[in-house]
Amino acid sequence: MMYDDIEKILYTEEQIKQRAKELGQQIAKDYAGETIVMVCILRGSCIFFAELVKHIPNYVELEFITVSSYCSTNTSGEVRLISDISKPIQGENVLIVEDIIDTGYTLNYLKKLLLARNPKSLKVVTLLDKPSRRLVECESDYVGFEVPNEFVVGFGLDYDQKYRNYPHIGVLKKEIYSS
Ligand code: IMP
Ligand code: MG
Repeated sequence: MMYDDIEKILYTEEQIKQRAKELGQQIAKDYAGETIVMVCILRGSCIFFAELVKHIPNYVELEFITVSSYCSTNTSGEVRLISDISKPIQGENVLIVEDIIDTGYTLNYLKKLLLARNPKSLKVVTLLDKPSRRLVECESDYVGFEVPNEFVVGFGLDYDQKYRNYPHIGVLKKEIYSS
């Protein structure tokens, strides 16, 4: 069973939902009176994205983008665009929703890609931040939780496409990814 592979829980589903609510309320305040184009980075952010948007009463458009950069637990530094958002964003308030910032390569790439399209504003919200692993400068405007340098799964985050449906955020047992 999936649950047997988890070493410990870092954040429970309830704690994550509470934090998403707080972030949503802050975002709503900061964007008062504005429409926001929220961009979900597939697939890791999808569950956080769904949670977050419910707490933002603004007019919000939901967009999805797929990038790939990651093989298991090692990042290559090479980011590829797999599928793009569905509309131009010139003059729009764009808010990128990420699951975790690790080396920073993914977000760095996405920020450049979207900034080149001349949005009115571009900001980032990430559920998790692992600052100790940063290889390229990359700041997030809103951060859910800072996590230590451990491989985490659940609430959308995967290891080899598994554990995305684990409802909490947990640390995977070492033997799972070293075997
Ligand atoms: P970065 O480009 O190194 O910042 O990596 C960002 C992406 O790597 C995230 O969107 C995740 O999909 C993945 N990632 C980084 N760290 C973890 C982790 O601890 N667990 C699961 N996925 C991770
Ligand atoms: Mg991933």
